Amino acid sequence: MSPSNTGGPGFDRVQEFAGREIPRTADGSRVPGWDEPVDLDKDPAGVPDPALIDVPGELRREFEEIIGRYPERHSAALPVLAAAQRHHGWCSPQAILQAACVMRVTPGYLTSVATFYDMFELAPSGRHQVYVCTNISCSLRGADELYAALEAAVDGDPDINLRHFECLGACDIAPMVSVDQVYYGPLQTSDAERLVADLRAEREPLPELALALRPNADAALEADEAAK
Ligand code: FES
Repeated sequence: MSPSNTGGPGFDRVQEFAGREIPRTADGSRVPGWDEPVDLDKDPAGVPDPALIDVPGELRREFEEIIGRYPERHSAALPVLAAAQRHHGWCSPQAILQAACVMRVTPGYLTSVATFYDMFELAPSGRHQVYVCTNISCSLRGADELYAALEAAVDGDPDINLRHFECLGACDIAPMVSVDQVYYGPLQTSDAERLVADLRAEREPLPELALALRPNADAALEADEAAK
């Protein structure tokens, strides 16, 4: 890209990040605690004893149904963790212990999976998960402004977990957000207040922009179809 290229908001964004320092710890790492030694005197946790772990009946049945879908129980780690997170609100140590107990794996095995995938919450988070895609397609169509508008509307409400997210695979409705795993888009900054107000009022947010409720992802095409 030539220095004289001033082609649009995407280029402005590249310029904005050019030369910005990546925060590092004193030892030069970007990951605090990466060099902290493990406690070698501590015994690794084994597979939990079912006699000692209380798993709510409904959650146990859900775990067992998920595990039954796979020929090898380790393959069920992701959906089992997702079920544990839905039940507990986050992948708490208790949630992981219960999941490990039913799956017959160590808590360490599930922790290694949960810490790798960033849709698993490793600390208590709000009841509503709002992921704003700020990857390239959404960013070029105003995702950063949308995020700023949502951030202002959320105003620190701990009940709403507002996060930037990488491409959620719905670039055709950019800029888009995932709200409690339902996709909405394309959104305007002016939609932010109403989206947050709907969540606070326990209403279905922005139903006209919910991808699952539309026969066609292309709003213009949909309007044409409706006009016929
Ligand atoms: S870049 Fe946003 S959904 Fe793909």
